[in-house]
Amino acid sequence: MPTRTILITGANGEIGHGLIDHLSQHGGMHIIAMDLTQLDNAVKMKCHRTVTGDILDSSLLETLSTEHDFDTIYHLAALLSTRAERQPTLAHRVNVDGTLNLLEIAVTQSRLQGREIKFIYPSSIAVYGLPSLDAKTNAGKIKEGEWLEPRTMYGINKLYTEQLGRYYTHFYRQLDADPAKGRVDFRGVRFPGLISAATVPTGGTSDFAPEMLHAAAQGKPYACFVREDARIPFMAMPDAIKALLLLQAAPKQSLTRAVYNVGSFNPSAAELRSFIKQAFPSAAVTFAPDVKRQAIVDSWPADVDDSAARRDWNWSPDFGMDRSFNEYLIPAVKDRYKKR
Ligand SMILES: NC(=O)c1ccc[n+]([C@@H]2O[C@H](COP(=O)([O-])OP(=O)(O)OC[C@H]3O[C@@H](n4cnc5c(N)ncnc54)[C@H](O)[C@@H]3O)[C@@H](O)[C@H]2O)c1
Repeated sequence: MPTRTILITGANGEIGHGLIDHLSQHGGMHIIAMDLTQLDNAVKMKCHRTVTGDILDSSLLETLSTEHDFDTIYHLAALLSTRAERQPTLAHRVNVDGTLNLLEIAVTQSRLQGREIKFIYPSSIAVYGLPSLDAKTNAGKIKEGEWLEPRTMYGINKLYTEQLGRYYTHFYRQLDADPAKGRVDFRGVRFPGLISAATVPTGGTSDFAPEMLHAAAQGKPYACFVREDARIPFMAMPDAIKALLLLQAAPKQSLTRAVYNVGSFNPSAAELRSFIKQAFPSAAVTFAPDVKRQAIVDSWPADVDDSAARRDWNWSPDFGMDRSFNEYLIPAVKDRYKKR
């Protein structure tokens, strides 16, 4: 089999680390990794080529496109929810214009190679916007088409770019004489908050869960920025990587949507603390809700309905809450901080 070449943007981020780690272990592909920041050495070693640059730099992307034939683009680069709220115009540029640039590269690649290019995109539960806590409680598991009125710049960016992906797949330049010229196969997942044992996140509004865990493992006190009853869905990083790879590999004819919910477990912040305290009994977790960040969490669903992903591409998480904590997160964070 010929070696596949894949482009990963935002490669130095949390998902990038996990994805590159996984893909490099399975071989058979050249990974071209790009990020605004220089890639960590441990990640660099696993890539065919690393590029430090901005996804807003169209000429850099075009140059990359002339140098490689990409089979799949994993477009991970983004400004996450909290950072995006602090720098909304920058967020719009990176999250929307940046994604448009990558979709254009996918079209160019498709024309050059004469075949469809897969475009794998992590969207977010931030696309949802529930107007009140009552609505959130009554809504239960939310389906992909419901409650799409996000209140954050990040959520708006994600919702719009999902639509861009759908447009590039089905309607791109639909008035052209030969509209099938550039073919992009866009596939998105709406991730819940992700928890990794290997990296500590920055810039997200679901960060209270990983922050609580990593603080406990380091014996540091943690003041949680949401209320004890705050409840949103979460997923362990290995399941997030699994979702991206399963969706990438799914036969096109079995897909009925451009973007899918994926779920795993959904503890309240108090339940999270109890779980973490079982492993780290001396963990000093207090609750000091930040009203503004809490309001964002309150607008996100308590749970998602991922039956479409289960039906169309056999999605199911390997790790529920028990396994995520007991078999992955707790042992790995203990090991991580023991070494230091
Ligand atoms: N982590 C989560 O909980 C979560 C949940 C839902 C969706 N997502 C999505 O998954 C993707 C990856 O998230 P992550 O958790 O790895 O985030 P992250 O913040 O850890 O990584 C994002 C990476 O993008 C890079 N980047 C930012 N602007 C860039 C630019 N202009 N050009 C090139 N690189 C740039 C950053 O340097 C960073 O390394 C994002 O699209 C995010 O919205 C993440």
